[in-house]
Amino acid sequence: KFNITIAGGGSTFTPGIILMLLDHLEDFPIDTIKLYDNDGDRQQTIADACKILLSERAPGVKLLASTDPKTAFENVDFVMAHIRVGKYAMREQDEKIPLKHGVVGQETCGPGGISYGMRSITGVLEIVDYMEQYSPDAWMLNYSNPAAIVAEATRKLRPHSKILNICDMPIGIEELMATNIGLKSRKEMVVKYYGLNHFGWWTDIRDKSGNDLMPSIIKHVEQFGYSTDTGSDIEQEASWNDTFKKARDVQALDKDTLPNTYLKYYFFPDYVVEHSNKDYTRANEVMAGREKFVFGECQKIIAQGTAKGTELTIDEHASYIVDLARAIAFNTKERMLMIVENKGAISNFEPTAMVEIPCLVGSEGPEPLSVGEIPRFQKSLMEQQVGVEKLTVEAYEEQSYQKLWQALTLSRTVPSASVAKDILDDLIEANKEYWPEL
Ligand code: G6P
Repeated sequence: KFNITIAGGGSTFTPGIILMLLDHLEDFPIDTIKLYDNDGDRQQTIADACKILLSERAPGVKLLASTDPKTAFENVDFVMAHIRVGKYAMREQDEKIPLKHGVVGQETCGPGGISYGMRSITGVLEIVDYMEQYSPDAWMLNYSNPAAIVAEATRKLRPHSKILNICDMPIGIEELMATNIGLKSRKEMVVKYYGLNHFGWWTDIRDKSGNDLMPSIIKHVEQFGYSTDTGSDIEQEASWNDTFKKARDVQALDKDTLPNTYLKYYFFPDYVVEHSNKDYTRANEVMAGREKFVFGECQKIIAQGTAKGTELTIDEHASYIVDLARAIAFNTKERMLMIVENKGAISNFEPTAMVEIPCLVGSEGPEPLSVGEIPRFQKSLMEQQVGVEKLTVEAYEEQSYQKLWQALTLSRTVPSASVAKDILDDLIEANKEYWPEL
């Protein structure tokens, strides 16, 4: 049985992930789940509710919550990290500051992602170091955002650490694709995909017998985007639905491939800004929606002393985390999209770039599959974006104002160096407590 630490225990995603883990106990048996967060009060609410939940649904699984690194990180096999440094209040700043300057306001793309990245690096490195100090054999399954910048930072600053960087976005999109063409699960598909995190393309999708599924998925996307209106929770949210619909326009730019939806921020920044509300962004939606709901449900469970009738639901789409842990623990060699150092997998692309590509994952970690050459359009876009990510990490390391200004200037979402500077100066002011001094 495995011991797990969830870093970012106070996250709105934690209850859904715990429910998912309970659903998979047969293939991934768990002894203890530890929650770790630096906000003890926030985490305690989640922990108290989850304890009641566990006592009713899986009494054999122990749960403890701590803000003490030693307690939280000793004697564990896996650290699942989904931390959000600065919480939603800072996400709101990441989104609103660029928008004030007429630039895309998004938590992982453009200036917002750079800003969030500069905060996340410190938090993620701290957790890696705790893990190595207290459980040197453990693996960190990292899906903390902004994944691209975090992955580059861990590559550069902790090159020998056992960190697996993975993102749920391709998984979520593959689920929609599968539904779109009448499959039961994304697991019926074998995919080829390449790019950077939140910046990539599917080039081939087949069923297990080798039949080409691309034509039917492309046909659907050309008409409706990835939107299915199947009534899934995420499609109920207007902001996400718009992103899934916009995939149609993104796909039109390269008709042979299927895009990651976040490319809309780079290809259609003008559209995105026009359709953004400068005073009410995704952070506000999440605070008023998911955050209120999850903490409300947790408080109800605590007050009633039972989780019976709770509306908290399992986050089944997070089951990729179990697949990943199993791949390491049982050497399953499952094919998964991971964020890894390129090292020639994309043959005409920078070897040290962190790319998102299919890998076979076993107990030694991910083994990247060869992608070969990619076309000039994608390659050029990716080079520019890798520049943004690498400059951000260099700026963090060297505490360089100049490099962060360059990173912002290089982003496709930012129209000029002067706008980049105005945004940067506002971001520095907002992030005083979090960023290294530049
Ligand atoms: C997707 C992305 C994540 C991101 C999340 C935000 O899942 O892959 O990187 O964190 O969306 O979702 P939210 O509901 O908080 O806007």
